This record gives sequence, C-alpha cells and structure tokens, in this order.
Amino acid sequence: MQLPAQSRQDRNRAASTEAWRHTPRQSPLVAGEASTVAPGVLPFGDTPPSADGQSEPVMCGWDISTTTTTPHLLVTGSTGSGLSTALRSIAVSATSQHCDVVAMHAGGLVGLNDLEGWPGVRFIGRDAAGFASALEVVHTELHARYEALESSRSSEADPSTSPSELTPLVLLVDAWSIAVSALRDAETVRRAFDQLRTILGLGRFVRVHVALSNHRLDPEVLPGELLDQFAARVALGRLSPATLLRLWDLTAAPEQVVHEPGWGLASLAGPHSPEPIRIWTLPHLHQDAPQAPSGYASGFIADHPVLAG
Ligand SMILES: Nc1ncnc2c1ncn2[C@@H]1O[C@H](COP(=O)(O)OP(=O)(O)OP(=O)(O)O)[C@@H](O)[C@H]1O
Ligand SMILES: [Mg+2]
Repeated sequence: MQLPAQSRQDRNRAASTEAWRHTPRQSPLVAGEASTVAPGVLPFGDTPPSADGQSEPVMCGWDISTTTTTPHLLVTGSTGSGLSTALRSIAVSATSQHCDVVAMHAGGLVGLNDLEGWPGVRFIGRDAAGFASALEVVHTELHARYEALESSRSSEADPSTSPSELTPLVLLVDAWSIAVSALRDAETVRRAFDQLRTILGLGRFVRVHVALSNHRLDPEVLPGELLDQFAARVALGRLSPATLLRLWDLTAAPEQVVHEPGWGLASLAGPHSPEPIRIWTLPHLHQDAPQAPSGYASGFIADHPVLAG
C-alpha cells in the first residue's frame, strides 16, 4: 500500500533525526575538512538535520569575528556530560583558524593534555600555579594589546594598527570552580576573579575571548555579572531546572534531544531560545591526528616569562 506523502516525509524526518541523535561525529577539522568554515566562526558541533529529513545536520560554532556579539562562551552540564570534550573541539577549531590558545584544565577523565604542543596552543595550566599563570598570561596580553592599540592611535608614523589585525586569543577554562578551589589562599582567589572579570569585560575590544566550562552555575562561582558576559551558551547532558532557568529563563525543558554526554542545548548567537546541539568528538590528537593546521603564526605580543620559559 502506498503511504500518503505526509507520512513518508514524517518517516524520513524521524529516521534522519534518530541517526543524528545517536551518532557521534568526529570533528572534521582534524581531518582538514575546514573549507566551509566562515572566517572568525569556530565550529565545534552541529544541529539536527532539516525537518523534512532531506538535508544534513548544520555545522554550528562560536563567532569570534571582529563583529561578534558573543565574545565569550559558557559550557555547562553535570559531571561527565562532555564539557572537556567540547573545549577540546573548540581548541582545535580555534587553532585551525590561527588563533592563539591558552588553557587551564582542572581535572576530569578527558583532559586537555594532548593539546600540549599542538600548534597555536601556548600554555596549559594544570595545577594551582598553572591556573594562576594562565590567567596572568592572558591578563598581561590583554593589557599589552591595549597599550599597542593606544600607542598606534597616538602615533602618526603607524596609525594603522586596528583590532582586526590582532590574532584572536582564546582562553579555555575547563571546570572553573574546581580551578578556583585549588587556589591556595583568599588573595589568589580574589586575584583570579578580578583577572577573569577584566578579561571578560575588556577582551572583546582586543580579540581576547573566553570559553569557560563549569558543572554548576552557583552564584558563588559564577556571579551574575560574570554570567552575563557569556552571550554564547551551551548546556549538555541531563539539564537541571536551575540550569534552564539561569541560562535561558526557561521554567521547563524544551523538547530535549538526548540525555547523554555531548548532546544538549545551545544559544550561540546570543540570548535566544536554545536549539539542540551535538558536540563533535576528537581522537587523541597526537596519535591519531598528526596533521596540525597549517600556516599557523602566533600573534602574541607579550613576552611573558611563563611562555618564554
Ligand atoms: N560529544 C560527545 N559525543 C559522544 N560522547 C561524548 C561526547 N562528549 C563526551 N562524551 C563521552 O562522555 C565522556 C565524558 O566526557 P568529558 O570528560 O568531556 O565530560 P566532562 O563533563 O568534562 O566530565 P568531568 O565531569 O569528568 O570533567 C567521554 O569519555 C565520552 O565517552
Ligand atoms: Mg572534564
């Protein structure tokens, strides 16, 4: 018996969405398939196939171009929901677009260790001293960029330096509250919050961007003034009512995609209703994906002892 057209369409839609829901996708950027990426947008996942089931999932990413309205990205979710995996995908995306990357990674099964030595990755802090250094390096760089822009503005000899000529610098903060709790005293914690606040507040003007993950969104670790700076937002895995409320002012979950690691909701273009997202996974970078992005050139201005040493 011939099915009515509408039913066939529904079946197509169901089948293709089902496949999307259950098939992890490895980042095409590691294999060098980055040709369709818009400059300044860092793809790290995709959204479901079209409603008619006819077209592929749509690649989606974080806009850090000079005209971005989403200079900083927040990734949240319960333990094991794929936060570190998301930051690794963002790191590879960033370096494939010739950004500099500084990272701090505070534990969990999936680390950022294999990013060590990846072109463009300038520093990874893994302990209390490393977290403080990562923030210090980026904070120093932020001020160096401001000074360079200021002096270029006031110099008739070289009035041409503009933010668009700066190499984007991405600070990846994996598990912010764990990093904070590792810091040894109240003064160091206060300094870390101050530096993050400055980086979030001023970074957009000198192409310094933050992608920060945290399991919880408690105001003690992410006060409203910091949360507000993250215009791009992702929540993974099983989402709590508190998360939905704090991120999107939602009192109930929209139709959730998959309650599994790496799947969730995202509003990447600003404070809009979230859409389903599937985060790309990565192989171990140095064993399985030796092809580093080509043409990389660092744009660091600061001659910081952490980087020099
Ligand atoms: N995008 C994804 N697609 C498929 N599986 C994923 C994805 N992200 C994570 N996973 C699975 O979930 C596991 C945990 O991922 P990950 O370590 O990134 O989560 P996390 O939230 O950082 O966890 P932790 O709380 O331990 O820091 C991975 O080993 C992997 O098996
Ligand atoms: Mg983790």
